[in-house]
Amino acid sequence: MNKCRKIVVTGASGFISTNLRKYLSEQNIELISISRKNFKQFKNESKIVSKNYDEKNLLKKIKDSYALIHLVGIGKQSVDIDYGLVNTQFTNHIVNLSKKAKIKKIIYLSGLGVSATTSLGYFISKYHSEKIIINSGINYTIFRPSYIVGKDDLLTKHLHKQIKNGLIKIPGSGNYMIQPIHVNDVVKIIFKSITEVKFKNKIFDLVGSDNVTFEEYVKLFSKGTNTIIKKINLEDSYYDAITNPKSDFGVDDLNILIGNFKGNHNKLKKFTGMKFESVVKLLESGRLL
Ligand SMILES: NC(=O)c1ccc[n+]([C@@H]2O[C@H](COP(=O)([O-])OP(=O)(O)OC[C@H]3O[C@@H](n4cnc5c(N)ncnc54)[C@H](OP(=O)(O)O)[C@@H]3O)[C@@H](O)[C@H]2O)c1
Repeated sequence: MNKCRKIVVTGASGFISTNLRKYLSEQNIELISISRKNFKQFKNESKIVSKNYDEKNLLKKIKDSYALIHLVGIGKQSVDIDYGLVNTQFTNHIVNLSKKAKIKKIIYLSGLGVSATTSLGYFISKYHSEKIIINSGINYTIFRPSYIVGKDDLLTKHLHKQIKNGLIKIPGSGNYMIQPIHVNDVVKIIFKSITEVKFKNKIFDLVGSDNVTFEEYVKLFSKGTNTIIKKINLEDSYYDAITNPKSDFGVDDLNILIGNFKGNHNKLKKFTGMKFESVVKLLESGRLL
């Protein structure tokens, strides 16, 4: 464990980062966490607040850390901030910093569906980031997650909000499948990928054991709440996503849902040797509500 004493985490106040930092802190890992804004520190954690992660401010502080877990990313873009800038160019900056800081390992969360043949702008930006990391010469593990769920993820928050209003809208048929994975399993896998040599220079789909349609997921999620579930014409959902910056689903949220991307859970299970939480069972027990 000594060799991975110091771990750097980027995007510290994000959903996965917050869960991961808590878990790593409990494992007595020394953390250096970076965010653009102030955040609550855990035990064994040093905090860096930096608007643009400039080298002058960061390099000395992260030098000779064992690993860097890069959790900065966006899934919706605007004229001010786009995928190329945040998902790709920022990753390039972080990889260059990691090289200068002599960091030995990089962990990156890409996306389920990312491939050399993708035509989606969001996935293209993630594909390029993967390539930057792979070509860096630094030992890497890349994960391509489906929906990572917990208490505070975007999908859960979005469904909670709709339940409060008594109506959940499903874009289109709702027959497309998702493979949700619980954030508690994700943080354990990330920890393993830092501590176990067999994860070196590998890419994994990060998918849970359940393969459910979005409609089934929503029904389970809202079970016992008297919420009306309504299917919305896909054209109307896209129109809303295209014309309303505050729409519940962004254009790429819809693309990813409708894309029906599938991952290999058995491969992940066999490789990690882990027992995974079934998100469906959690929903059935009401523990995710
Ligand atoms: N959650 C999922 O289901 C899922 C699925 C597939 C892939 N992923 C990937 O996993 C990573 C983490 O996801 P998450 O769900 O934890 O997302 P999140 O809660 O939105 O966190 C992402 C973090 O990125 C940082 N960030 C955003 N824009 C930035 C910018 N312009 N400059 C610097 N930092 C910026 C922010 O950190 P600060 O506010 O602390 O600065 C933000 O909290 C992302 O790359 C995402 O694409 C997530």
